[in-house]
Amino acid sequence: MRLYRLPKHTGFDDLTLMEAEEPRCGRGQVLVRMRAASLNFRDLAVATGKYTMSALPPDLVPLSDGAGEVVAVGEAVSRVKPGDRVAGIFMQGWIGGHLEPEHRATALGGSIDGVLAEYVVFDEHGLVHIPEHLSYEQAATLPCAAVTAWNALYGLAPLEPGQTVLVLGTGGVSIFGLQLAHAAGARVIATSSSDEKLERAQALGASGLINYKSTPEWQDAVRALTGGLGVDHVIEVGGPGTLGRSIQTVRPGGIVSMIGVLTRGQIDPLSILGGGAIVRGIFVGSRQMFEAMNRAIALHRMEPVIDRVFPFEEAKAAYHYLKGATHIGKVVISIG
Ligand SMILES: NC(=O)c1ccc[n+]([C@@H]2O[C@H](COP(=O)([O-])OP(=O)(O)OC[C@H]3O[C@@H](n4cnc5c(N)ncnc54)[C@H](OP(=O)(O)O)[C@@H]3O)[C@@H](O)[C@H]2O)c1
Repeated sequence: MRLYRLPKHTGFDDLTLMEAEEPRCGRGQVLVRMRAASLNFRDLAVATGKYTMSALPPDLVPLSDGAGEVVAVGEAVSRVKPGDRVAGIFMQGWIGGHLEPEHRATALGGSIDGVLAEYVVFDEHGLVHIPEHLSYEQAATLPCAAVTAWNALYGLAPLEPGQTVLVLGTGGVSIFGLQLAHAAGARVIATSSSDEKLERAQALGASGLINYKSTPEWQDAVRALTGGLGVDHVIEVGGPGTLGRSIQTVRPGGIVSMIGVLTRGQIDPLSILGGGAIVRGIFVGSRQMFEAMNRAIALHRMEPVIDRVFPFEEAKAAYHYLKGATHIGKVVISIG
């Protein structure tokens, strides 16, 4: 079988396609023929050695997000059977409850080998069944970006119909945030650097649209769109350079989900106090969150937004494309 490894973490041009023996599954394990994988911003950081959330082993098989078909199961496996369509969960050890330090050491494509391979062995507990209406390419987009958006909207205080959600930019996490919030009957305000991308966001259900380049004080525009009240949730992917403004958009008791670090800057902690915001750190989510989200995706027949699919042999080009940031939603690699 073929797989990719990152010999070192010095850039995605080092990504190496190699032959390896097809793995076998032992007791409690499941062999999955991977059909598709998807990229996250994190995978750029992993490939270039800039990822700080865990130590990165050499010769890592990259990528956390993938979907495929169960082809064999080991002794004592009861959750899946050959022929089932499944996806791996981001942290193989985080089934439910709070995130514990030991869960971090089980993150695919970071702490442990990931899914950019034709065959991968998972622990049976590290898999979810994927919604029937989704293709493998679509399902491969879910484990990191979609579960993160779900955790932001439902992990602390469930999103309610009629509430307002602000999503920053039109990358993978934010577009899932938009789709999940829209499906739940919430109002969505989206920002982007591009008017063209804002049109796409509108077609997906966003009703407030702000170009953060031409409107640098976008927090005022967001508040104006809520009649001065502020939003209930912010999908905060920008980090230090946007967090201060995001906090200014939220109503007292509203939740700013601190997810990403795309920008540099500083924030004044007093703004959290003064505005009564809840700022909550998010690290993807558990298997139980993934399963709850899949039920909602199946119910609404929601389809992930895929910008472009690259063949397995062109994985490096997929990394370069994601880095270019011209995409909206997700970038996928098909694995045959
Ligand atoms: N904590 C977690 O569990 C978790 C999980 C997933 C991702 N993340 C993090 O979340 C961030 C986004 O990840 P992703 O995979 O969704 O990335 P992505 O698909 O690469 O999306 C990046 C997008 O962010 C937008 N953006 C960049 N700078 C911005 C700014 N100043 N203001 C508003 N939007 C801005 C851009 O949208 P436009 O082109 O529309 O301007 C860009 O296309 C990354 O930092 C990633 O590491 C964290």
